[in-house]
Amino acid sequence: MILAQLTDTHIRSGRQVAYGRVDTCSMLENAITHINNFRPNVEAVIVTGDITDRGELEAFHLFREIINELVPPWYVVPGNHDSRENFLQAFKDCHYLNDSSDFIHYSIEDHPVRLIGFDTTVENKPYGFLTEERLLWLDNCLAEKTQETTILFQHHPPFFTGINHMDVQNLLNGKELIQLLTSHRQVQHVACGHVHRASETCIDGVGISIAPNAAHSTTLDLDPSGPSSFSMDPPAIRIFRVDAEGYLTSHLSYLGSFDGPHPYFSPDGKLVG
Ligand SMILES: [Fe+2]
Ligand SMILES: [Fe+2]
Repeated sequence: MILAQLTDTHIRSGRQVAYGRVDTCSMLENAITHINNFRPNVEAVIVTGDITDRGELEAFHLFREIINELVPPWYVVPGNHDSRENFLQAFKDCHYLNDSSDFIHYSIEDHPVRLIGFDTTVENKPYGFLTEERLLWLDNCLAEKTQETTILFQHHPPFFTGINHMDVQNLLNGKELIQLLTSHRQVQHVACGHVHRASETCIDGVGISIAPNAAHSTTLDLDPSGPSSFSMDPPAIRIFRVDAEGYLTSHLSYLGSFDGPHPYFSPDGKLVG
């Protein structure tokens, strides 16, 4: 199964640019074209929050207008920039969302891999936190199907990247999540967003990653006193491949046209000199 992850699309109403220079709408359109053209076909797309930049309903509607062009099915979880109320209003026809609880969690059982959307957001706060209730929901959800390869996707990462101004607003009790996942080994991976830069780790046997951004990236500055800033790095998305045995591999896929592909071997079978 091939799965794509989009994250932190930060759409603004009226196609306004974000932060004075980032055309997030056009960059999302580029990412959608890229996914639609990817081969083998992408079977599903997960979108890990910060769908909008300011949470307005109009921006959610614009996101939907743009993402309607996506061929594979897509699933959304909220980020800290998304108003919960407007999120639920904009996606009310998405069969997997349930607005009767205080959080937006769900599991998708339609694919060879079980997908769990997990809500890490705290209303009006940039950081994430998991209450006992949310952890219990996840524990129960995972206990229902212990043999199915599962991917968890959420906005806030439960680990430190070394980019300090982002680390202070990640998932505050990430250790509790990781501890819970050590008892549910069918979870092959936790796919996160929020940081706007690709990063990967493995903690206590739990593989975790943050997706790159298809628009603006947080500057790679590992100086603890480094200022909050972004850079227009080459836009990219994350691709996951899960094989028949349930093993997961992750790739970065850069958006745009690049020189190639060029064959390694000439028609006579010799390595090109
Ligand atoms: Fe973001
Ligand atoms: Fe965020």
